[in-house]
Amino acid sequence: MSTPLRVAIVGAGPAGLYAASHLLEGPGGTYLNGELQYLVHRHIEVDVFDRLVTPWGLVRHGVAPDHPEKKLVHTVFDALHHRPGFRYYGNVEIGRDILPSELSSWYDAVIYAIGASGDNRLGIAGEDLPGSWSAREFVAWYNGHPEYRNAEFRLDHERAVIIGNGNVALDVARILTLPIAELERTDIAPHALAALRNSAVREVVLLGRRGPEHAAFNNPELEELGDLPGVDIVVDQADVPNASSRKLATLRRFAERPLRGHDRRIVLRFSTSPLAISGRERVESVQVTGGEVLDTGLVLRSIGYFGLPIEGIPFDAGRGVIPNEFGRVAGMDKTYVTGWIKRGPRGIIGTNKKCARDTVRTLLADATGPATGLPATEVERLVRERRPDFVNAAGWLRLDDHERRLGRAANQPRRKVCDPAEQLSLAIG
Ligand SMILES: Cc1cc2nc3c(=O)[nH]c(=O)nc-3n(C[C@H](O)[C@H](O)[C@H](O)COP(=O)(O)OP(=O)(O)OC[C@H]3O[C@@H](n4cnc5c(N)ncnc54)[C@H](O)[C@@H]3O)c2cc1C
Ligand SMILES: NC(=O)c1ccc[n+]([C@@H]2O[C@H](COP(=O)([O-])OP(=O)(O)OC[C@H]3O[C@@H](n4cnc5c(N)ncnc54)[C@H](OP(=O)(O)O)[C@@H]3O)[C@@H](O)[C@H]2O)c1
Repeated sequence: MSTPLRVAIVGAGPAGLYAASHLLEGPGGTYLNGELQYLVHRHIEVDVFDRLVTPWGLVRHGVAPDHPEKKLVHTVFDALHHRPGFRYYGNVEIGRDILPSELSSWYDAVIYAIGASGDNRLGIAGEDLPGSWSAREFVAWYNGHPEYRNAEFRLDHERAVIIGNGNVALDVARILTLPIAELERTDIAPHALAALRNSAVREVVLLGRRGPEHAAFNNPELEELGDLPGVDIVVDQADVPNASSRKLATLRRFAERPLRGHDRRIVLRFSTSPLAISGRERVESVQVTGGEVLDTGLVLRSIGYFGLPIEGIPFDAGRGVIPNEFGRVAGMDKTYVTGWIKRGPRGIIGTNKKCARDTVRTLLADATGPATGLPATEVERLVRERRPDFVNAAGWLRLDDHERRLGRAANQPRRKVCDPAEQLSLAIG
């Protein structure tokens, strides 16, 4: 058999794993938008790196715990482990353990799929006061991201304020208001469940800076709010113009129906922007347009994630993306990009499937010369030199199996292990 084309993918989130699937597709091809696609006509091997022990990116650390159906996409990714030519290197950070220049010299091509692990900024006074967090940090905490497991969110004030009204803002509002019995059935991180059990939060106010017709959340996610057990949804009728879309119709319905007298509520505000976040030592209030002041102890800024650079790779600091043409990184050879770090922090899981396909198509069109990448065994030796404690696919599957077993015992889909040392001992032994 001819020398395989060896590709490294940095990031095991949806974009990276879809790219791996496209590269390793069998002679049967893959379906995209209902059409059978054939991309691959040569032997390819793919090594996927992630800085965390666990793969799946935001499917594990972003998607809300009460939306288990959205996580089922992991079955697509699990199938990868059985594909010949696939290797997983968890617990290896590119830019720290291995430099991009080294990766380029080891492989025939490298795809960056590192997502967006920073925050968009509000640029108002008090943004960094204790008690003001980005929604990304809160989400990472309740989903058991190892780096946020020790964060302390004070839930001792009756009101929390969320700035922004995208789908992430709705996720966070649900997690803050759902009855604990609902959360107990999910894979929410154990530390978050314990903290939410004692939460004093009874009202969550979402501030949308534009009118309801421009709200960033989607209608199905909005409709879901109306059925939350134990939670009233408050919308001011005066805010909602006559319905010209399904979203406005849903809002109108919420505004017109009587409150059910629940002790928890989500208040959807529109055309209201924060002007300053205030407090002596920590957040005490948010001043908003119209001269109103909202007392609160917790502000979650849900105004979008933001891509971070990786040293040695070009970066557009204004947009937080790696500049590229059709997925080919500007000014670099054999280097590609996909997912949120290519397009910016928007789009659902499925959006990354087409994005990854487009990038893989560009990569394969460029790969006309002879393959010169190092053999898989040689790369593994080099990785082991840098990170003797890297986690391979078998190691991850051991940890995965352990979490599911713990979950079954507690009537949860899984019980996440959040301490990286414990993750490593379960994965590697
Ligand atoms: C809170 C939240 C909830 C969401 N809920 C849904 C939902 O319910 N349904 C839906 O369809 N979509 C949802 N989305 C959108 C979806 O999660 C994204 O479209 C998708 O995860 C983006 O994929 P990605 O691979 O580009 O990035 P990510 O999923 O962020 O994956 C990036 C990966 O790269 C790794 N990485 C980063 N830097 C390095 C490095 N230097 N070296 C090695 N590895 C690195 C990270 O650890 C991570 O695993 C949600 C998004 C958020 C933020
Ligand atoms: N269930 C799901 O399918 C699901 C769940 C979660 C996330 N996602 C997806 O993940 C992506 C990211 O979601 P997201 O909610 O983080 O982002 P988003 O949809 O882009 O929403 C960002 C919100 O922040 C507001 N905002 C931005 N800058 C602001 C500022 N300076 N001041 C006040 N408000 C500001 C935006 O208002 P403007 O609109 O006025 O700019 C918008 O309301 C989206 O594509 C989303 O659909 C999907």
